[in-house]
Amino acid sequence: MNFTILTLFPEMFSALLVGGIVKRAVERQYISIEPINIRSFAKDRHRTVDDRPYGGGCGMVMKPEPLAEAIRHAREKHPEAYTLVLTPQGRLFNQQVAQELAGCAGLILVCGRYEGIDERVREDLVDDELSVGDYVLTGGELAAMVVIDAVSRLIPGTLGSERSAQEDSFSTGLLEYPQYTRPKSFEGSNVPEVLLSGDHNAIRRWRRQTSLVRTVLKRPDLLMDQPLTRDDIEFMKKLQQDINTIIGKQSIAS
Ligand code: ADE
Repeated sequence: MNFTILTLFPEMFSALLVGGIVKRAVERQYISIEPINIRSFAKDRHRTVDDRPYGGGCGMVMKPEPLAEAIRHAREKHPEAYTLVLTPQGRLFNQQVAQELAGCAGLILVCGRYEGIDERVREDLVDDELSVGDYVLTGGELAAMVVIDAVSRLIPGTLGSERSAQEDSFSTGLLEYPQYTRPKSFEGSNVPEVLLSGDHNAIRRWRRQTSLVRTVLKRPDLLMDQPLTRDDIEFMKKLQQDINTIIGKQSIAS
């Protein structure tokens, strides 16, 4: 998968190559990351990339000509790629969108700065708009890096073990179960016995059930349209009964 990034700050993307899975994926050629400076498509002596907004108002807008040229250049080089603008007005990026994008032949990520890009470029040369959350960043670069990071780890081969991408939070629709490593006892707190038992069925059940409890407590919204198994429902009913019994005993006592 090729990620072409159109930006005024191409140096920022070297942060992805400092270490970790994305760096390794680039080295092993599962992905390539190609930042292109939009300024290099500006034609005037000062290499101007922004201008005042028509109609007045504060801030500057990214001029259409250099940006349009930069997008056309990237599209010619990668005709199969999907072109996205990073903007707080976009579709909210989540694990499902990451999965969708991981299936694309390539991505062209357009990073806005200032008050945004000229509307005509957005209308004519962009396939989709993405936001990484309901807050305003100073530009699309950090958002593009979030997208590159989350999509890269879904490209087959980038993670050491393919299973870890399938099992992590959100891919199963649930939050991930608690993880432990050595030592067995740390500052008076012990690893749950079941994980030391060697009973793989019991471990699988414990992991599923702790995932369910965590999700109910931290992100119940994720469970609202999540298909649950018969075992999941049995487990949750039992939990509900236990909670009701505990509450019942409290009201008798008080
Ligand atoms: N640019 C500025 N804020 C952004 C956000 N929240 N998501 C994507 N791009 C942005």
